[in-house]
Amino acid sequence: MRTKVGIVGAGPAGLMLSHLLHLAGIDSIIIENRTRAYCEARVRAGLIEQWAADMLVETGVGARMQRESLRHNGIHLAFGGALHHIDFVQLVGKHVTIYGQQEVVKDLIARRLADGTPILFDVEDTRVEGIGGTSPKIHFRHDGKPQTIDCDFIGGCDGFHGICRPSMPAGVLTEYERVYPFGWLGILAQAKPVSDELIYCYHPRGFALFSMRSPTIVRYYLQCAPDEDVTQWPAEKIWDELEARLGGTRVPERGPLLETIVAPMRSFVAEPMQHGRLFLAGDSAHIVPPTGAKGMNLAFADTRVLARAIEAFYRSGATAALESYSQTCLRRVWKAQRFSWWMTSLLHLFPDATPFDRRRQLAELDYVASSEAAAKSLAENYVGLPIE
Ligand code: DHB
Repeated sequence: MRTKVGIVGAGPAGLMLSHLLHLAGIDSIIIENRTRAYCEARVRAGLIEQWAADMLVETGVGARMQRESLRHNGIHLAFGGALHHIDFVQLVGKHVTIYGQQEVVKDLIARRLADGTPILFDVEDTRVEGIGGTSPKIHFRHDGKPQTIDCDFIGGCDGFHGICRPSMPAGVLTEYERVYPFGWLGILAQAKPVSDELIYCYHPRGFALFSMRSPTIVRYYLQCAPDEDVTQWPAEKIWDELEARLGGTRVPERGPLLETIVAPMRSFVAEPMQHGRLFLAGDSAHIVPPTGAKGMNLAFADTRVLARAIEAFYRSGATAALESYSQTCLRRVWKAQRFSWWMTSLLHLFPDATPFDRRRQLAELDYVASSEAAAKSLAENYVGLPIE
């Protein structure tokens, strides 16, 4: 097989990269080690920054999102037994879109296949070769047969546990990491959302987040141990705990649980995000803790920079944008890291927190809720910093 850009991974990064390249007339092939059903069902966050929602619409994959998503103009912070509203539209003139990541993935897969881009699911034994030269290769097995993609560039969009990042030669990467001493227990349930906008709760029992997918499906999270055993969480205990952490500000409607997961919390960046003809995008290069839901948005920002750089190369042979890819992306990545770390630190109960730390967290929450300058800083990061 021969293509211009071989893409490893059919998540948001790989699919969007292929989509943007296609719009620029550049062909690609995507390979993925999971099944299509797995990719389309994998529940992740559901919050899209304004520029990213605009990009989905402007590039022609936003029609279902426009019909089925919810527009949110702000969020609530719950602490000290009261709700405090942060109004993004008033503060920074922007909003966010609530639409599940797996719905974006479904829309992108459908569009790639309709455009005739091959997506090979369920591949095995993937490895990359020759990334230091001008004709890299991707080797893998598909339907039991060995296959090779000859390409000009490789998009490493295969996530934190993927094979692309470890394929870089020893000594190329510097990795920065912080692991948090807690996780999130996430539920999807059939119930009416407790509020028309998200509620982020700071509570002596731990953090909780009240999100949603639709007027009848809620997505709620509870701070838990990093290795929490979900079997210890029957439905009633989950609902009691969610209600307790709202601190009397609201009472959530209860309904049947559709899914329960435990997510670990990690901040991670690998620099540089490129070596030779291999370019990392999305979770293969960086992980944010979920607070603030920046993961998919960052992946989209990477792919926009990379697609434009590759387009410039094929149009005129220019390599400047390719050479500065990592540097361009990392400026945004580190600001999103800072924001995700800040939201996480602000709202969670740290096991080693002193009484001083708890009072300081409350003072910071009070500051955000009462100072326009502080609220504006949260708002401009939450809706997405301007895209270069
Ligand atoms: C969702 C997840 C988040 O981590 C967040 O900050 C906001 C929303 C969600 O899944 O809806």
